[in-house]
Order: sequence, then C-alpha cells, then structure tokens
Amino acid sequence: MVQEVETPRQANTTLIDVKGLKVHFPIKGGILGRTVAQVKAVDGVDLFVRHGETLGLVGESGCGKSTTGRAILQLIKPTAGSVKLDGVELTTLPANELRKKRAEMQMVFQDPYGSLDPRYTVGQIISEPLENFKRGNSKEVRDEVADLLETVGLNPYYVNRFAHEFSGGQRQRIGIARALALHPSLIVADEPVSALDVSIQAQVLNLLQDLQGKFGLTYLFVAHNLSVVKHISERVAVMYLGRVVELAKSEEMYKLPLHPYTQALLSAIPVPDPNIEAKRKRIILEGDVPSPVNPPSGCNFHPRCWKAQTICREVIPPLEEKQSNHYAACHFPG
Ligand SMILES: Nc1ncnc2c1ncn2[C@@H]1O[C@H](COP(=O)(O)OP(=O)(O)OP(=O)(O)O)[C@@H](O)[C@H]1O
Ligand code: SF4
Ligand SMILES: [Mg+2]
Repeated sequence: MVQEVETPRQANTTLIDVKGLKVHFPIKGGILGRTVAQVKAVDGVDLFVRHGETLGLVGESGCGKSTTGRAILQLIKPTAGSVKLDGVELTTLPANELRKKRAEMQMVFQDPYGSLDPRYTVGQIISEPLENFKRGNSKEVRDEVADLLETVGLNPYYVNRFAHEFSGGQRQRIGIARALALHPSLIVADEPVSALDVSIQAQVLNLLQDLQGKFGLTYLFVAHNLSVVKHISERVAVMYLGRVVELAKSEEMYKLPLHPYTQALLSAIPVPDPNIEAKRKRIILEGDVPSPVNPPSGCNFHPRCWKAQTICREVIPPLEEKQSNHYAACHFPG
C-alpha cells in the first residue's frame, strides 16, 4: 500500500539546502582531446526548499535549471558546492549511502516519450525501482504497482501494455507513478507538463497537487516562465546564467520583484486588466544572454542591467535576505 502521511506538513523546516552549487562541463578540443574551456552551466546556485512546499525554479532556456535539478539529485556530480537533504551532505556521501538516499529523491522528466523505454510494459517500468531496492516479494510488488497505477488515475488493467501504447498525458502519469514507487520525500519535476497538450496540462498539474497533499511531497518544479508556476508554487526562485538571482513567495515576487532581471521578466507578462495593462511600462532587455562558457565578471547580469555600477562588474552579489523571506542577489535591489 502507498502510505499516506498522517502528520501535517512540517512547515518551515528545510528539506533541501543548496549552497554554492557549481556544475562545469568540460569542452574538449584539439587532437589530444584536452579540456580547452568549461561550460559553466551552474555557477554558484544557492536555494532551499522547505518540507511539503513547492518551489518553482524558473528562467530562460539554457540558464541551468535542469542541470541544477540533476545535480541536487546527484545524477550529475557537482563541480563544487553543498547539497544537504534533511541536514545530510550528499556531495561527499559514499556510493552505498548515496544509493539509499536516492530512494528519497526522484525526478519527473519533461519528455514523457523519451523518458519511458517503449519496449517495456507499464508494470516493468513502475516495478523496476521497487525491485532494485528489494521492496517486497513478487506479489507485493504486483499489488504495489496496481496501487500506484490507481493513485495516478490509470486503470491497473493496463499493467501489461507497453509505454508506446499510451498518450503523452498517460505516459506522464506512468512517469509519476514510477517516481512515487519508493515513497520519496522530494520530487524534482523538470517541466513536467510543457510537452503536453494544453488541455492535458491542467489535469497533470492537478494530479501533482493532489499527490502532494496526500503524501506530503516536496516539489522542486522547473518551468520556463513565471506564469506557469504562479499558481502551484508557494515560493519561486528565478535563475539567470547559472545562478539564482531572486527567491521569494510567489505573490510577493509578482508584487514587488527586487532584482532587475525579475522586474524585466515580469514586465513582459501581460496583465488581464486592460486599464492596468495600458499604463504598464515594459522593460526591454538589451542584448542576448551571454555564453555560459565565458560569463561576465561580478554580477553576470551587468552587461544588460540599467542599474549597473562599477561594483557590479567586480563583485558577485550574494543571494541575501533583503526583506523578510525575500532573497535577492543584487547590489542595488528594489
Ligand atoms: N552534458 C552537457 N555537456 C555540456 N554542456 C551542457 C550539458 N548539459 C547542459 N549543458 C549546457 O549547460 C547549460 C545549461 O543547460 P540546462 O539544460 O541545465 O538549462 P535549462 O535551463 O534546463 O534549459 P531549458 O529551459 O532549455 O531546458 C546550457 O548552456 C547547456 O547547453
Ligand atoms: S548587482 Fe548590479 S548589475 Fe547586477 S542586477 Fe544588481 S544592479 Fe544590476
Ligand atoms: Mg531544462
């Protein structure tokens, strides 16, 4: 049986604490295949996720959201920094202990077509983690798989069908059932609805929200833009070029963004009220996002920032609590 939590959410306690996380990918070149440069995909991410909450992680394509998610789960080895799960440092855990911790952290992927092997049946896909972690005999595993299918709104009768026989939304439900199998505390959902038809997106989002309530799950929910996460996240972290630049409660981020990059992002989202919309000032950012191979010095947003001063080019602004529970990485916030 999938166990439901009996205790209310442990509000305000930190489940995941990330400090100074870096993931640099080497670029090899020349006939000797030496490392000639590094892609600084994640370059000093700080963030924390509280028990039972949803933290939305947003930012433009290529800013390092997926790499951050994978590095938190230790699916990619971080180049530097600290990731703690319930106070336990994951980056230095011996392999056998990390394996046990892996059961507590799962991922739901963006592409429900690519992430499920079409040659396997639904039963094989969902039971694999249970078998890897030796959770029960074959009857118990079968019962658990049936239970999980029901939990995600699929008929257990489909257990012997192949993944390729299902629609995108159904496949994403299978991916969610697989992620739930080991009763994780954290799920990193990497753009879990962006590949689905708009009509299906809300159903899958509702399912994720129901499951959170039922099992006390904590989500790190990756999305491209702020409007997607607004309704489902208690708090939002905004990423730019490998770093978190702002982290705050969703409604506060909307009302009073402190970082110039967030201000620019929000100014681009239309407001439904035509009177307010007509008076709003759009902030058009100049230039493109710089390459993560050679990011700008100091605050890496400085070449595009209208408030930049000398210090911005020289000193990396740390992510600091500028107002109660509102963090920003900017020398001149507000
Ligand atoms: N295995 C890899 N080797 C080299 N570079 C990589 C690798 N994985 C990601 N990158 C680079 O790291 C940067 C961050 O990639 P990442 O996929 O984390 O971004 P993202 O924010 O998830 O983007 P998207 O919104 O498009 O999914 C990009 O420049 C990407 O090209
Ligand atoms: S630190 Fe400076 S350059 Fe960076 S966002 Fe703040 S004002 Fe702009
Ligand atoms: Mg991504």
